[in-house]
Amino acid sequence: MAENLIIAEGGKEQKYDLLYKQIEALVTGESDTIANMANIAAMIHYTFGFWWTGFYRVQGEELILGPFQGPLACSRIKFGRGVCGTAWKEQATQVVPDVELFPGHIACSSLSRSEIVVPVWCGEEIVAVLDIDSEHLATFDEVDKVWLERIVALL
Ligand code: SME
Repeated sequence: MAENLIIAEGGKEQKYDLLYKQIEALVTGESDTIANMANIAAMIHYTFGFWWTGFYRVQGEELILGPFQGPLACSRIKFGRGVCGTAWKEQATQVVPDVELFPGHIACSSLSRSEIVVPVWCGEEIVAVLDIDSEHLATFDEVDKVWLERIVALL
């Protein structure tokens, strides 16, 4: 699928709009969550050229690394730790314009400068988070939050 990924011309909204439609078509034809997470990570990553794009899955008291694109990352994150653990604990998307100003940020890569973490819900429960890192400051805003929340709702 990634090799067939079509990236819209124009701004972020246009890119997300087409990306969403492609992800929707992809997950409609595939019931396996890990396979869908893997392709969603790849599609987001290659649409925007982010530094790191991937999922951590809730396993007991920890988040464990799932499908991702980018350099290697920490395998396990405890509840409430870092941006990912905070999104899980607070049950809310975290938009972090400067990771150095986020208390307890876990630096998997010193090149990461800003980040967004979006909870993945299954009914009333958070089952995973989508974590995206950028090597630029303040990459993510409300537009990313809205679209990424819509995207993970497809899982
Ligand atoms: N920075 C994240 C850890 C995950 S890696 O960046 C891929 C955090 O603070 O939760």
